[in-house]
Amino acid sequence: MIQNETVVVIDFGGQYNQLIARRVREANVYCVVLPYSKSIEEIKSYNPKAIIFTGGPNSVYDQGSPIVDKAVFELGIPVLGICYGAQLMSHMLGGTVEKASTREYGVIPVSLSESLLFKGIDTESECLMSHTDKIIEVPNGFEVVAHTGNCPVAAFQNTEKDFYGVQFHPEVNHTPFGSKMIRNFLFEICGLKGDWTMADYAKNFIDSAREKIGDKKVLCALSGGVDSSVAAVLLHKAVGKQLTCIFVDHGLLRKNEGDEVEEIFSKQFDINLIRVNCEDRFLGKLADVTDPEKKRKIIGEEFIRVFEEEAKKIGTVDYLVQGTIYPDVIESGTGDASVIKSHHNVGGLPDYVDFKEIIEPLRNLFKDEVRELGAELGIPHHLVWRQPFPGPGLAVRCIGAITKDRLEILKDADYIFREEIANAGLDREINQYFAVITDMRSVGVMGDGRTYDYTIALRAVTTTDFMTGEWARIPYEVLEKVSRRIVNEVKHVNRIVYDITSKPPATIEWE
Ligand code: XMP
Repeated sequence: MIQNETVVVIDFGGQYNQLIARRVREANVYCVVLPYSKSIEEIKSYNPKAIIFTGGPNSVYDQGSPIVDKAVFELGIPVLGICYGAQLMSHMLGGTVEKASTREYGVIPVSLSESLLFKGIDTESECLMSHTDKIIEVPNGFEVVAHTGNCPVAAFQNTEKDFYGVQFHPEVNHTPFGSKMIRNFLFEICGLKGDWTMADYAKNFIDSAREKIGDKKVLCALSGGVDSSVAAVLLHKAVGKQLTCIFVDHGLLRKNEGDEVEEIFSKQFDINLIRVNCEDRFLGKLADVTDPEKKRKIIGEEFIRVFEEEAKKIGTVDYLVQGTIYPDVIESGTGDASVIKSHHNVGGLPDYVDFKEIIEPLRNLFKDEVRELGAELGIPHHLVWRQPFPGPGLAVRCIGAITKDRLEILKDADYIFREEIANAGLDREINQYFAVITDMRSVGVMGDGRTYDYTIALRAVTTTDFMTGEWARIPYEVLEKVSRRIVNEVKHVNRIVYDITSKPPATIEWE
């Protein structure tokens, strides 16, 4: 259980919910996101120091629109409502909300009045508005503290009760003073200390894990990705050689990746590491399989089988480490998204390995916090900042049937692309970038001869949540260099294409 001062974010289904939580965490204040349907008892069980209501797609007066237990206003703690959250606060406390004739969307000028919420912020600024309904009248005891040309109540407050509402979105970068405003809420209004740091988190976790585990054995599936790596190093710091990591190298990793993982964890950190080289076994199972979902299923199942076989050799273990992170456990306010891809995570839970308990050291952390923690623990920079890599690995980047030859082509092309992105200093700016080997071949000319070779597609996206994404505007010179290098250095490739679709309608991976 987290001991730090906690803010509860109540989720009404808006698209920026996690961003709100991240802004709070960035201010070194711990927070949790709960769906609006949670009871007041559950909310109280977190001993919150403040509540934030998120935005959401509904209208407050619609039948069945999300609503929170009115008792949150009687907890004696500050409440900040954002967008729908502000409308709901107004509506529930006796103000008036009306449907506006037009939707207001975009970055627009806003005038701010005297308020602790806006301390140290210019009175004339800009904010991101995205709403249809409008607050027309604030409840008794409230005053209006911001307006825009179109929106008479852009912010309101009741300083006696410490209730605040803003129609705009302070959590997005398009509202330049947004982070400052959230900090003002946390520190000026709620009087919080900002006691959430990764160094403390690591120390507390290591101490309590050491005490809990005693002299028992711990097992971890290490994939080399950020999450499992940080989880493994944390546990290693806690119990040293009582931890064994199993690294299933299914041959679908990027070029040199298997060796790098072995080098870092086995040699640098001196972790008990079992590397299982089973490329042939996986490729055998995947032979002639072209359907992406079948690939995922086969890899997921085979991974568990290999893991289980290795675990059996170790004998009974007491604890199994999982790299689950907070976004995986947040229940959304509305939550009925359809499944586009069965993200069959390699490293998923093996059903039949004998263990007493699961330990999830990252369960409360966002991805950027996991990276910060990894850096704190001394994990090399390039590993901590590694871009996401899908569990089924290169299998979903090798369109059509997977063969050893095509995998080699893909690995080499992908390596060049990644190297050039790093050389151009774009590796932090672009959130995911990789090569795909298509199942298409076309005619080319090399020297005086005709070629009939593969097309490699390059994919690069900028995104914050990986749910949506924009194709990255990589400079032509960089693309040109990558293209030239791949066709010159990688045999059997004679054509490079760059994917210029965003998500949606495309997905990030091609399969
Ligand atoms: P899509 O392709 O759905 O990808 O836009 C969104 C993010 O998820 C990753 N991804 C996966 N991760 N197992 C995983 O662990 C999978 O099967 C899988 N498929 C896609 C993808 O790399 C991107 O970061």
